[in-house]
Amino acid sequence: DRYALIMAGGVGSRFWPVSRTEFPKQFIDFFGVGKTLIQSTYERFLNLCLPENIFIVTNESYTDLIKEQLPFLNNNQILAEPMMRNTAPCVAYGAMKIEQLNPNAVIVVAPSDHTIGNQDAFIKAIEKSMTVAVQESCLITLGIKPNRPDTGYGYIQYTDEVLESDNDIYKVKTFTEKPNLELAKSFLQSGDFLWNAGIFIWSASAINKALEKHLPDMHEIFTNGKTAYNTENEKAFIGNAYQLCTNISIDFGIMEKADNVYVLPSDFGWSDLGTWASIYEMAEKDYVGNAVIPSEQVMMYDSSNCMVNVPKEKLVILQGMHDYIVVESNNTLLICKRAEEQNVKNIVADVKAKF
Ligand code: GDD
Ligand code: MG
Repeated sequence: DRYALIMAGGVGSRFWPVSRTEFPKQFIDFFGVGKTLIQSTYERFLNLCLPENIFIVTNESYTDLIKEQLPFLNNNQILAEPMMRNTAPCVAYGAMKIEQLNPNAVIVVAPSDHTIGNQDAFIKAIEKSMTVAVQESCLITLGIKPNRPDTGYGYIQYTDEVLESDNDIYKVKTFTEKPNLELAKSFLQSGDFLWNAGIFIWSASAINKALEKHLPDMHEIFTNGKTAYNTENEKAFIGNAYQLCTNISIDFGIMEKADNVYVLPSDFGWSDLGTWASIYEMAEKDYVGNAVIPSEQVMMYDSSNCMVNVPKEKLVILQGMHDYIVVESNNTLLICKRAEEQNVKNIVADVKAKF
């Protein structure tokens, strides 16, 4: 049976001041469509699995936000982590809990904070991968054709060896999580690399085997909870288990090391929404390139190619502004040149030190 495990415990610090530790990016409606990123993600998976088979792993401190935004979930579908330990423990916890519910489960593990343009193509890619993942007991990831040497992604080098059962799925030769710029440039040039979309498909048993092999300590920690999962003892068990876990991502911990990794090259309008620039790219723009969310109370004069994201009730006027980002949230206003957005990260550190 099909299951979805949505990872929603990250903090999304690049979208300050809109996204903050108390209110990270997955809980925000970036496009003014009336749905936050996690609500869109959840809805997407309703096309793939039964509502009771969708699970969210998040930090304890976000469980109220989850309940507010996804009120149909029952408590057992919200996996609360007592501390941030990155995505490997989050996958291990989810996989063991789901396997305990259903030993034949096939799981799609996905981030909560991406956008997908073509829903049908997305669902088809996952369905296809799920069938193969069960048949071959392998680990499948979705690959995206890269268009710049971004160092924020994992890079997948694939061979021309395809699976006999499905000619669209390729054997992965190397997986390199977040390379340095030089390496990323050479990957882009070589042409046989894809970006890791961060969306994984595997059977519960296959990922648990991979954890046993490559992260044996973590595997043992979570295996010890077999009798606690899906009972009233789960919370106490997890509280302890996380204390013992190392902080490591699934990419470094498993994907870089496993040898039964396959990739389905995909094209479904994927965006990781890692920066304001990527929000701007995906957003609807007027004829002079302004993306304004929400638009009712924002007036633009002789301004172009600006990204405006402000609270609904705010009256905002821009005059003679070109290529700017204007965002306000939590009584904090940020105005910066679109091209200089990467400096915001350092500024945030300053602000945090001062206020
Ligand atoms: N539950 C939980 N706990 N979720 C977490 C945690 C955690 O400790 N840390 C991160 N997440 C969630 C985030 O909210 C996000 O939805 C997802 O896991 C991925 O984490 P990111 O922190 O956004 O990872 P990344 O973007 O740097 O890198 C990953 O995604 C890229 C594509 O967007 C990697 O898989 C890369 O290889 C990949 O290219
Ligand atoms: Mg991410």
